[in-house]
Amino acid sequence: MKSILVTGCSTGIGACVARGLSAQGWRVFATARKPEDVERLQAEGLESLLLDLNDSACIHAAVDAVLAQTGGRLDALFNNGGFGQVGAVEDLTRDALREQFETNLFGWIELTNRVIPVMRQQGHGRIVMNSSVLGYAAFAYRGAYNAVKFALEGLSDTLRHELYGSGIHVVLVEPGPIVSRFRENCVPHFEKHIDWRNSIHRAQYESQLARLNTPGPAAPFTLPAEAVLEKVMLALESPSPRARYQVTLPAQLFWWLKRFLSIRAMDWVLMRASGGGKR
Ligand SMILES: NC(=O)c1ccc[n+]([C@@H]2O[C@H](COP(=O)([O-])OP(=O)(O)OC[C@H]3O[C@@H](n4cnc5c(N)ncnc54)[C@H](OP(=O)(O)O)[C@@H]3O)[C@@H](O)[C@H]2O)c1
Repeated sequence: MKSILVTGCSTGIGACVARGLSAQGWRVFATARKPEDVERLQAEGLESLLLDLNDSACIHAAVDAVLAQTGGRLDALFNNGGFGQVGAVEDLTRDALREQFETNLFGWIELTNRVIPVMRQQGHGRIVMNSSVLGYAAFAYRGAYNAVKFALEGLSDTLRHELYGSGIHVVLVEPGPIVSRFRENCVPHFEKHIDWRNSIHRAQYESQLARLNTPGPAAPFTLPAEAVLEKVMLALESPSPRARYQVTLPAQLFWWLKRFLSIRAMDWVLMRASGGGKR
């Protein structure tokens, strides 16, 4: 039975991937950062542990606990847990950027680096990074999130080169809009860090807040989290996985447009897509 550690399993993509892989016969260590979610996942029959990406001790304790149960082996890691910091670049504080990077990048890399020696020793492994269409396409008012996903893409490419020949594959999954709690989970971070009432961008923020607080898919071509699971399965089980898997039509479209359009034309497309900052 192959084993995988998944982060951010309380909701959304992480929960779907954990359940889906478990149903496919994987031994899944479904981690979450809140004890009540760990208990809920355990009650569901999943092996679940506490893992807060902002807490180094918690990351190391979770890996120790997993390795103790697997006899020191781990076949795969799905880096997934995180959030989106919304806000115009000129409204982003150092703290807002720091928190975005702490959770969505530094925690991921600390966890990954803890797992790599285990994978090197066993001679194989899969490290799957849940990036985003915003990892290669810039979007107005998503600067912090763009920055952290672009950084993740760069680090993952480097890591792929450094692990070449080790038997460890690094794969980026790049979803477009997916049904999850992502949008509503953006709101507290936005309220905490962006002084939106006093911002020059207030009108755009009001429109964005209305969209963030509206339940249901807010973007065309939104897919359920199962669409991500499908690509994660390919990343994990294909004998020769691709470096990147886009998920949803917008993610594929922007990927190809970026290759063929001039920067000026691509800017026009992306600014239209952001609805002049209203989305
Ligand atoms: N939904 C989309 O449209 C979309 C598109 C592209 C990429 N993604 C990526 O998909 C991943 C999962 O997002 P989602 O869409 O499933 O959103 P979600 O429903 O908001 O789930 C995010 C998960 O990350 C967890 N998390 C947040 N901070 C954490 C921390 N410090 N330590 C550990 N876990 C933490 C959350 O736990 P709590 O419940 O405790 O907050 C939750 O389990 C993210 O990396 C996101 O960037 C999403």
